[in-house]
Amino acid sequence: MSYVIPLFIHLLCAAFWVGGMATMHFAVRPSAVATLEPPLRLRMMAATLRRFFVGVDASVTLLFATGVAMILAGGGFRGLHWRIEAMMSIAIVMLAIYVYIRASVFRAMRRAVDESAWPTAAARLNTVRKLVTVNLVLGVIVFGVATVGRAG
Ligand code: HEM
Repeated sequence: MSYVIPLFIHLLCAAFWVGGMATMHFAVRPSAVATLEPPLRLRMMAATLRRFFVGVDASVTLLFATGVAMILAGGGFRGLHWRIEAMMSIAIVMLAIYVYIRASVFRAMRRAVDESAWPTAAARLNTVRKLVTVNLVLGVIVFGVATVGRAG
């Protein structure tokens, strides 16, 4: 149980983070662009991202905590399988990108929305979109490494 419970939480958090980014990228943002004028669209995207990021904060924290817990339960950091090392390394890059989005770009976007500076808000949202796309691709690669890597 000291392994499978963290694994369960780990997979749930990974699914939330990566699946949530896919939903934002493929469904929410394109629908907002197709149906809403810029002021309403940017307010709606700021509100949606704010709520999503609260969930991501929790997921990322639990993802790393359960990952480390499983490594310790499995005997520690020495002699880890390459796929675990790769998972951890790519996840650290994803974390750095997420922290940058959260602490810098998204904050600037919300400020611009509050000031009704729509072109600035749209530019910041576009940066969020590009960075989330990078993290989405990395997240899919981590899923691949974590599972297909079992073969090697
Ligand atoms: C976006 C980030 C991550 C994703 C998508 C992800 C995904 C996964 C998946 C799909 C598995 C199941 C693999 C299997 O049982 O074959 C897994 C297991 C695992 N992950 Fe992650 N992971 C992420 C981040 C991390 C981090 C940051 C750590 C370490 C700090 C970590 C450590 C582990 C460990 C130790 C296992 C258990 C492997 C095993 O039972 O053989 N993961 N992860």
